[in-house]
Formats: sequence, C-alpha cells, structure tokens
Amino acid sequence: MDDYLRINEASWNARVPIHVASDFYDVAGFKAGRSPLRAFELAEIGDVAGRRLAHLQCHFGLDTLSWARLGAEVTGLDFSGAAIEQARSLAAECGLPARFVTADVYDAPQALGETYDIVYTGLGALVWLPDLTRWAETVVALLNPGGFLYLAEFHPFQNMLDDDTGTRVVRDYFNREAQVWEYPYTYTGDDVLEYQTSVQFDHGVGDVVSAIAAAGLRVEFLHEHDHTLFRRFAGLVESDGAYRWPAGAPRIPLMYSLRASAR
Ligand SMILES: C[S@@+](CC[C@H](N)C(=O)[O-])C[C@H]1O[C@@H](n2cnc3c(N)ncnc32)[C@H](O)[C@@H]1O
Repeated sequence: MDDYLRINEASWNARVPIHVASDFYDVAGFKAGRSPLRAFELAEIGDVAGRRLAHLQCHFGLDTLSWARLGAEVTGLDFSGAAIEQARSLAAECGLPARFVTADVYDAPQALGETYDIVYTGLGALVWLPDLTRWAETVVALLNPGGFLYLAEFHPFQNMLDDDTGTRVVRDYFNREAQVWEYPYTYTGDDVLEYQTSVQFDHGVGDVVSAIAAAGLRVEFLHEHDHTLFRRFAGLVESDGAYRWPAGAPRIPLMYSLRASAR
C-alpha cells in the first residue's frame, strides 16, 4: 500500500503506448475530428466555451483535448510522464491550445497553481485513489466560486459481479482494503503489459457522494446509466459504441455521473 503510487505509475506508463495504438482510443479518429466524449457528458456539462477546465487524471489527453475543441481553456493533469508526453504531442499535432502537467492528483493545487470553472474527471479515475476525502478537498481547492465538479465513473456495483457473465455476486461491495492486482493485460485488448502489477481501491457510491458533500460542494445530481464503454461482461450488446444488457434482461447500473457546485 505504501508503494501504491510508484507501482501504479509504472503500470500506467506501461499502458500508454498500448492505449495510444489501440482501436479503443482510436487516435486516428480523434485526429480526424471524432470526439470520444459521451453524449451524457456533453448534455450534463453544457457549454464550455471560454470556461477554464481542469481534467484530473487526464491520461494522454483525448478527453481533455475534446473539451478544448469545444472552446474550453483546458489543463490536464496526470502522474504518468508517458501519458503527459503523448498528450502534449497530440495537442501540438492537432494545433489545440492546452496545458498538461505531470503530478499526483493530491498535489494538483500546488502543481497547477490556478483555479478553474470546471473540474472534470472520471471513467476509471477514482479506483486509483486511496482517500476520497482528500480527493474531494483537492477538487474544492481547484474550483472557482460558482464552479463545479463533474465526475463520470464506472458504477462500483458491477465490481461485485463475476467477470465473465456479470450475473453472480462474487465480491464484497463494502471491501475498502487496497487490492493488489497481477494482470498481464490492459482494458484495450490482449497486448501483454511490460509491468503487470497495480494497486486499486474500491469506493461505494455513498463514499463518493459523502466525501464530496463533506468537502462543502452541493450535489446537483447523480445519474446512473445502463450502459458502459466496453464489453465489461460477455452478455453485453454493443450499439453505437455503448454496451448494454440485451432488451428484456434485468439491468444494473454500469456508469454514473455527478455534478456538484462550489458555493
Ligand atoms: C483510466 S484512466 C482515466 C482517464 C480517462 N477516463 C481516459 O480513459 O482517458 C486513469 C488515469 O489516472 C491516472 N492516475 C492514476 N493514479 C493517479 C494519481 N495518483 N495521480 C494522477 N494521475 C493518476 C493514470 O495515469 C491514468 O492516466
């Protein structure tokens, strides 16, 4: 656990070249103008033109740069030097103005040294963080008065289910211990990772909302979604890039999104 940062940084640095080359991220499509932002994010965040947006745990910047294309003044932060290097080169190649900073998310206020109208984060971000109270306080320190946090995440409910069918409860929703994973692949396909260890932390939806509220933000909504971004379970059916349970099957929430404003 003490080493979680070093271990996870090595894990993410190893994933970057695989992700950049993957169909999942479709960098060629992005360069041609495709936006990877989800329809619900665009609707729920609204117009970003002229607004200062910080993207925490921005990976190699595809989502960050998509907000820049919509007119936001963007800053991306990630602890993976390899990811930030790729983000900077993508921004330069696409001619998009953006600032990218390498830092641990908990050091963001000092590393960035400025505040924002929107703090945007998620879709695989919180599972890397051991302390949500500290994370929410970090977000508050980054927000301008009247600004807001927007979080889109994979729903933790699904982590209880068996990885193949997603129909049996096999894990404890309330386990908050650090989990050490040894796994040869990343989520974009079957390329074998050079570094295969990671440390992850499950957080319940209640933990997330309570940490945000305790930090002084006002929760505007929490929406649960019946679809996700990849074939998390074998039975999910793809349509327009979204993966859902087939019609008629009982559904569970697969993603959620939350917006919370600074006073
Ligand atoms: C699954 S990605 C989420 C990004 C985005 N949803 C995407 O798909 O492009 C998780 C990101 O969190 C970053 N990360 C993990 N722990 C971090 C930490 N403590 N501080 C900053 N970044 C971190 C990783 O480097 C990775 O880029």
